[in-house]
Formats: sequence, C-alpha cells, structure tokens
Amino acid sequence: MIFQSFPNEARVAKALPWFVRQRVPGMSKELDCPTIRLHLKKEFSSTNKFLKYFWTGKSAVFHEKPALANEPIDLSPYDTLIIATPVWAGNVSSPVRSFLAAYVIEGKQVYLVAHDSGGSPKKCFATMRALLPKSKLKKEIGFVNVTQETYSTHKEKLEAFCKEILAGK
Ligand SMILES: Cc1cc2nc3c(=O)[nH]c(=O)nc-3n(C[C@H](O)[C@H](O)[C@H](O)COP(=O)(O)O)c2cc1C
Repeated sequence: MIFQSFPNEARVAKALPWFVRQRVPGMSKELDCPTIRLHLKKEFSSTNKFLKYFWTGKSAVFHEKPALANEPIDLSPYDTLIIATPVWAGNVSSPVRSFLAAYVIEGKQVYLVAHDSGGSPKKCFATMRALLPKSKLKKEIGFVNVTQETYSTHKEKLEAFCKEILAGK
C-alpha cells in the first residue's frame, strides 16, 4: 500500500530502496523522493490475525473500495509514479483500488509493483492497468516475500528495476 512519486527535477539518485525500507524496517537508506502509505479511515482489525485475513481477503474479492484516511494527495508536481500493492486474493489490495478509483492519474509515467507470497501477480496487474486508463504504464514487476532475511536475493532485481526507472525505461 505504498505509492511513490518522483519530482520532475532529477533528485532520484537513491531511488528504489523505498520499497525495501517498507518491507525491511532495518534498511535505512535515505530516500530522495516522497513515499506515501495509504491509510484507511477504518483499518482492518489487527488484533485477530484470522479475522484480519478474512476481512482483507473479502474486501479484495468483492472489489471493495474502503475510504482512505489520507489527506488529498497533490499529484501535479510529479511526472512519474510507482504504485505498489500487496497481492490480496490474487488481486490488487483494496486500499490501492480505492486510491486508483479516487484519483484520475493522467499523463504520468507509471510503474507498478506487486508483492506477494508466491502466487501470481498477473490478475493484480491486469486490474491496475484497467484502473489506470489514462497513464503511460512503463513497467510492472512482482516480488515474492521480500524481508530482511531474503533481501540479498532481491537486491539485484530491485537495483536493476531502480536503474530502469531512473533511465525512464
Ligand atoms: C487477505 C490476503 C490475501 C492474500 N492473498 C494472496 C494471494 O492470493 N497470493 C499471494 O501470493 N499472496 C497473498 N497474500 C500474501 C500477501 O501478498 C503478502 O503477505 C504481502 O505481500 C505482504 O505485504 P504486506 O506486509 O504489505 O501486507 C495475501 C495476504 C492477505 C492478507
């Protein structure tokens, strides 16, 4: 549930560790561009793991768009966005669906990132593409189980993706 955008000016030297920072709290590389985490007005219960899984799964299956608690996000200064989501029930997470439904994202270069635990991100990307009809979708990339422990196995792929973004590929 993270989306990040790069300002037009070239302040992007240390870009992609944003994703790792979200996934791996121990990583502390400086970001040079804003990262916004989506929050819900009514967060899914976190006290009971089973219930949380049930309600989040249900919300994804039924394409719910729960209300976001974030202040309105001004996308105008940015020409590039990275929109990242966990895969829920084979699809985009409902907070990211809410975000994509709430904002008309037009004339931006967009990179999609999906994170899952081993399933396929295919349907998730298809949904995101459909919800972004006015954007130039540059690339999509899936990651499986990025954690502190597995970071070294993802590092190369993350860095290569980062370089592609910086090069506008
Ligand atoms: C309700 C729910 C449904 C999920 N469904 C899938 C799935 O269909 N395929 C998959 O590979 N992972 C699935 N996962 C695992 C998440 O994608 C994985 O835990 C997530 O990427 C971790 O990111 P997070 O810590 O930001 O939630 C699901 C997780 C939840 C909570």
